[in-house]
Formats: sequence, C-alpha cells, structure tokens
Amino acid sequence: MNYQEAYGKLEKYGQLHVLKYYEELCDEEKEALLSQIEQADFEVLALCKERETLNPRGKIEPIGVMQLSEIEAKREEYTQIGLDAIRAGKVGAVLLAGGMGTRLGSEEPKGIYNIGLTKDVFIFQRLIENLMDVVRQAGAWIPLYVMTSDKNHDMTVSFFEEKRYFGYSADYVTFFMQDMAPVSDFEGKVYMEAKNRISVSPNGSGGWFLSMMKCGVADKLRKAGVEWLNVFAVDNVLQRIADPCFVGATIATGSASGAKVVAKNAPDERVGAMCLEDGRPSIVEYYDMTPELMEAKNEQGDPAYHFGVILNYLFQVKDLEEIEAKKLPLHIVEKQIPYLDEKGELVRPEKPNGYKFEQLVLDMIHEVDSCLPYEVVREKEFAPIKNQTGIDSVESARELCRKNGIEL
Ligand code: UTP
Repeated sequence: MNYQEAYGKLEKYGQLHVLKYYEELCDEEKEALLSQIEQADFEVLALCKERETLNPRGKIEPIGVMQLSEIEAKREEYTQIGLDAIRAGKVGAVLLAGGMGTRLGSEEPKGIYNIGLTKDVFIFQRLIENLMDVVRQAGAWIPLYVMTSDKNHDMTVSFFEEKRYFGYSADYVTFFMQDMAPVSDFEGKVYMEAKNRISVSPNGSGGWFLSMMKCGVADKLRKAGVEWLNVFAVDNVLQRIADPCFVGATIATGSASGAKVVAKNAPDERVGAMCLEDGRPSIVEYYDMTPELMEAKNEQGDPAYHFGVILNYLFQVKDLEEIEAKKLPLHIVEKQIPYLDEKGELVRPEKPNGYKFEQLVLDMIHEVDSCLPYEVVREKEFAPIKNQTGIDSVESARELCRKNGIEL
C-alpha cells in the first residue's frame, strides 16, 4: 500500500492522526507503518459506540449436562472409543497461548511462568506433562498446534526449543500466529504505540481456526486425517487434554461438539454457564447472568445454569470453516493501553483508557448444531491462573496441584 492509498483508507475511517509522524520516519519505518495500515481492520472501531447493545441475547433455557455419575457408568466404553480415534490420528489439540496475560502481570508469555517452589514447573511444562499421559495411554502422538501472537511468538518458540519440548515430539508440534486488531481510545480513535506503529492487541481467542486456515495449517491437518480438535486455554495447569473419555463421549453421543464443564462454586462465579439460546447450544457469560438466571431451576428442581465452561472444547474440523465464515460476535473490552501522547512520548496508563476488540472461542459453541456439556471434577481439572494472588491465581493453582500430588 502506498502513502496515497493509506491516506485514503485512514480518512475514510477518521484515523488520519496515524500519519502524524510520517515525515519524521526513515524509509523502513514508513514501509512498516504503511503495511500495518493496509492490514488493519478499522471498520470495527466505530462499533465501540454501540458497545452496550452489540450482542443482544436470545431466549436462554437450560441444557442437559452429562454429569459425573453418567460418565462413570460408561467410562470404559467412552475411553475406548476416544483411544481408537486418537490412535487413528483423528484427534489434534490446539493450545491457545496468544493472550496477553495482563492480569498476571508478567512481560513473558504466560506459559513460561514458573509455578514451581522447589524446582522449575512451567505452565507449558504442566500442559505437556498432562498431554503426555494420554500419549502414553494411547501409544500414539497427538498433533499439538500452539497459537501464539505477534507479541509472544518468538519467545514461545525459543522456550519450547530450549526445553526440548519437555519430552514431546517436536515433529508433532506446530506453532501458528493469530491475527492482531487495533486498539482504540473510548471514541474509537486508534492509539499509536510508536511513531511508526499503531497499537494492536491479539484479536481474541475466537479467531484461532481462521488463523490456522490463513497459514495453511488447517489444510495440512485436514489432509492428515484430523477430524476433531480439542481447543484449550494455556492457563489451566490441571487441564486434561485430548481426554479419551471426553472424546469418546462426544463421538458416542453423536454430538457435533463438546465442552468440559464444572459445577459452579457460586451462582455468580465468574465463568460462562452452558445453556440453550434460541434452542441452540450456547454460553451465557458471567456478566450476562441476571438474578433471575442465577435463581432459575430446571425440571428436576436443580439450579438451571449450574455448569460453567473451563475453555476446553472439542470441535469437528468439518464444521470449523463454516463457523469462522459466519463472523463471530465482537466483544469490546476496556483495557489499559500504552500510547503516544501529544508530545510523542509513551504513556503507560494506570487505569483503562480504551478498548480492545475480540472474538471469543465460547461464541463458536452457538454456531454448531449440538454440544455435549461434559462434567469434570473441578478440583482435579480446573486450576486457572489469571492473577498472582486470590481467586484463580498462582496461589490457588499451587494449592490444587498439591492436592493432586503434583510436586512443585
Ligand atoms: P484470557 O481471557 O484469560 O485472556 O484468555 P489473557 O489475554 O490470557 O489474559 P488477561 O485477560 O490479559 O489477563 C483465555 C485463553 O485464551 C487465550 C489465552 O492465551 C488463554 O489461553 N487467548 C486470549 C488467545 O490465545 N488469544 C487472545 O487474543 C486472547
């Protein structure tokens, strides 16, 4: 894109301030800025004015959940079906590690965080160890796709190489980068992080398959015969990945997708609750949980929205292209964004000063025809690390690891 074209695009979206320092830049910097302008999607920025009304909810109703007792009764059968699928190379795992982990406050990728006390125990290491359990059980490697972002890709890849993939086969690990989206002030004016760089942030957990498609990874895995992808978050150190029983239960029940869920520890716990929305599977986020939904009972008289998702989903590859084509809802989230001030100096704000624009993986569930909510024991499988201390923190995750006999 040349200067004229960039000017035209910025003018159209009211973002001409992006070129404020253009004349001060060297040729290389000019080129970098023009290419960033070419790639950026400025259209979404205007949507921040409609933030409150952007994603209206449909009719919310309870959904049936496969609970622990039902799973126990069929554990052997489901596990066998899952192991068969894994051995046939039909199951891959996708680690979402492109997030910024701002709440944890570490400059490094979250997976590099060391939760060990007497020895090194990195978050990535915990995940690989868990996946290795299944590899050993199945006697087959499971392809692992790791999503990074522009901000943490190089560090993530070098860390895996330095640690020799924690014993995983490097042949079965593929890294791919997610897309970035511009971040703006509360009026939708994009921030600059340097004179030649627009401020950008990873575009959320929902664009993972689109990013896999763009870099050719999706095509390769389809050709290799992968039919199911188990997508999961980086920050749950008890995460069970490609869990054969979960895979088997999803296949055996003829479900188009699966979602691991835990019994919520309080009606207002900050996890999304599984439900039906306008008759389709869906997830109602904690900030959309009204008092009526929190108190609602199902036909059995139990709390109707009692099961929360833990960012561990199974999708069929054949559905994913269609899902991505449908354009997932956009979530506009307040954020602290470092920016260049009037004098061209970088300011690091202490409170939110703008918006990031994200799509979320949980919205993909609403796009599939059916979903099996599959209950897991939360003390055994749910130890998310979002913060340093308190709820969902390094401290609480360490405690849960100890309870599960994991040496730290
Ligand atoms: P979170 O919602 O916890 O976001 O991500 P985050 O960016 O990691 O952390 P905060 O909010 O800044 O503290 C849930 C999962 O989705 C991944 C994260 O890496 C994590 O595994 N994710 C999130 C991405 O891969 N890309 C994104 O753009 C956002």
